[in-house]
Amino acid sequence: MTTPAYSPGLEGVIAGETAIGTVEGGLSYRGYFVGDLVEHASFDETAYLLLHGELPTAAQLAAFRERVAAARRLPPPLKDLLAALPKWTAPLDALRTSVSALAHFDQDASDLSHDANVRKAERLLAQIPVAIADHYHLSRGGNPLPARQELDTAANFLYMIRGTDPSPEEVKALDVSLILYAEHEFNASTFAARVIASTLSDLHCAVTGAIGALKGPLHGGANEKVVDILTAAGDTPEAVEKWVRDALARKERIMGFGHRVYKTGDVRAGILKTFARKVADAAGTAGIEDRADVIERVMAAEKNMYPNLDWPAGRLYHAMRLEIPLYTPIFAMSRITGWAAHVIEQLDHNRLIRPRALYTGPARRPVTPIGERG
Ligand code: CMC
Repeated sequence: MTTPAYSPGLEGVIAGETAIGTVEGGLSYRGYFVGDLVEHASFDETAYLLLHGELPTAAQLAAFRERVAAARRLPPPLKDLLAALPKWTAPLDALRTSVSALAHFDQDASDLSHDANVRKAERLLAQIPVAIADHYHLSRGGNPLPARQELDTAANFLYMIRGTDPSPEEVKALDVSLILYAEHEFNASTFAARVIASTLSDLHCAVTGAIGALKGPLHGGANEKVVDILTAAGDTPEAVEKWVRDALARKERIMGFGHRVYKTGDVRAGILKTFARKVADAAGTAGIEDRADVIERVMAAEKNMYPNLDWPAGRLYHAMRLEIPLYTPIFAMSRITGWAAHVIEQLDHNRLIRPRALYTGPARRPVTPIGERG
């Protein structure tokens, strides 16, 4: 048996094939550059593209949105479960529990066929924002709001959280962030989902595992750290600059910066920055954008390191006055499209994902009977 090449963290390793998205030449989904999708399409159209392979016609989009809107509700026993969770349960953990529980109520749960997977994916796309919003209200002793069928994913989510109509600018900015978060080839959570699917497990299991992988601050959890950093950094440009230099001297990681693949910048961060600034200006929180600029300047000069998407996303959601523990669940509410597309692709052309490990333990040795040990 030959020993295959080893790359720590699988850096640079091609671990499989995909026709869904690529980071080569700037991120694109099924051949469309994300910047063009932001300019010419909505998140709902992008979700259709990822799940069905092509951008929808107007009629296809209308039918898709109708199916998704009709599925925007949770089985009552799941609502009872969410209400019974300890009050300190993190929203992302409640979402992981919700997706796992939703499997029990989905008649297609164990059907691995392409069509059943697409049906389940559309339902999860509808149910995930509802699970986030319902848990949000139930955890405060409040009553969840019914979904609004006529609204798209972004507007319905903001409505379900706040109970008031969001401004068109906020809906647009959230929608753009959802487009940018939707897909990112073999990132940690998507790869986790594919590994699970490759055992011929099902979509709900794969998505439950993906949410677990998303939680960590080196992945989706980073967007929840951004506001803490900007709050801790201080108010004046001088204080912010000192804070970031001191943090780097202590070898701390500045969450929202750096990327395994993008070493000269993340195109998504540049796109969302404009929207974060616009919403912050309208909300009267532009100071945080100015502080972010200082940190960006120091990170580029000192570390040659640039923002990733979580950097403007955390600021945007803060400017929208959304509570910090909702930020990673919002990422999941978008990435469900990429996860599901990858699980479908994996199951359509499955081969078990089972790499090798480079063994670093003791050489083969005899077992000493217990009475002779020590
Ligand atoms: N701030 C300060 N130093 C950093 C950072 C950072 N954000 N990221 C990496 N470094 C340093 C790290 O300390 C290490 O230094 P040294 O060589 O002196 O030990 C060096 O850069 C290489 O780090 P690494 O972890 O081996 O690099 P990687 O390519 O594996 O890391 C990363 C990629 C995203 C895990 C890392 O950049 C990081 O931890 N960033 C902060 C968390 C973050 O923003 N995550 C979101 C990623 S993108 C969107 C998403 O998937 O959610």
